[in-house]
Amino acid sequence: MIYKIKHFLRTVINIFFGNGIDQIAGKYMRSFKKYAFVDCSCKYKEQFEASIIKLYHTLEKGMAYDDYRPGFGKDNVNKLILSLEQYEAKGYDVNEFFYETALSCLHKYISKNEEYGLIDEDLKNRVNKLAGSPNECGGTLKVYPTVDADKMNYEQLMEQRHSIRHFSAEEVDIELVKDAIRIAQYTPSACNRQCWRTRIIADKNMIKAVLSNQGGNRGFGQEINKLLLITADLRAQQRNREVFEAFIDGGMYAESVLNALFYKGLGSVPLSAALTNTQAKNIRELLNIPEAEILIMLIGVGNYSKEATTTTLSSRKNAYIEVI
Ligand SMILES: Cc1cc2nc3c(=O)[nH]c(=O)nc-3n(C[C@H](O)[C@H](O)[C@H](O)COP(=O)(O)O)c2cc1C
Repeated sequence: MIYKIKHFLRTVINIFFGNGIDQIAGKYMRSFKKYAFVDCSCKYKEQFEASIIKLYHTLEKGMAYDDYRPGFGKDNVNKLILSLEQYEAKGYDVNEFFYETALSCLHKYISKNEEYGLIDEDLKNRVNKLAGSPNECGGTLKVYPTVDADKMNYEQLMEQRHSIRHFSAEEVDIELVKDAIRIAQYTPSACNRQCWRTRIIADKNMIKAVLSNQGGNRGFGQEINKLLLITADLRAQQRNREVFEAFIDGGMYAESVLNALFYKGLGSVPLSAALTNTQAKNIRELLNIPEAEILIMLIGVGNYSKEATTTTLSSRKNAYIEVI
């Protein structure tokens, strides 16, 4: 009883000082609506950067597919060019890494289409008219299956893990996946509460049904051999302030799982759980996920194919480091 009264008093005091959980979430939602970007309607330089990277990433993904479809993604190509034009018109710096990488992607996209016999003079003209010059950091990357990740040091492991979207047809040894999940258990978490859970979906029909509710696996989802769903349990969160902790701990854990899968010699691709309510509801029903668990990430897992695999280059910008 005494603890209930104490909790009630703390809640009242928190609300009085603007620190109630609804106020914390409300403040976040207001900031989110104010600052999160909408493609082709960006205002801040940071919004342009994010939107442009997102758009050229779709080109990198399309260029990485084995069964390349010349001229794919017209809508995103148009949005990307428009965004670069808007960015320049605002007077922002066209020598920024992301801007030059976007140009690099567009040039590689045009060359790749031409290799496949698709020549689009209009597109070429529009891209050539853009300010700035391309770097060499956009496009695709070849990943070789011979990497011995278990012999790598930490820096090599971080640098050489890549999202893989083309797998061999060979069945994944589920014990390797379980080993990776056990390693990831060492992820730090707030007060060591380890609120995460991983479901391994092995049934092929279930994988297909779940993936049909996630838009980011189009073109390669059918090659995924095991699908992981990572969730975090809200019942492990303290009600007076930890509104976002499940996302933080769950996200950190998801990264550990990805690295551990790589370490165990398996290819993997993180798949976003930023879903519509309908998609999330469908996945919850399919897998019987309780309401108390939030969806953090899906991860597609497969064996590396015997030959080199092409994936997105996904170049990294320089680290932001500020010493205060
Ligand atoms: C939270 C999150 C969601 C992602 N969602 C998708 C997705 O839906 N589809 C996809 O192909 N890749 C997805 N990715 C993979 C990213 O595209 C990839 O991590 C990024 O380009 C960096 O490349 P790398 O993983 O090869 O280093 C996601 C990654 C993260 C961390």
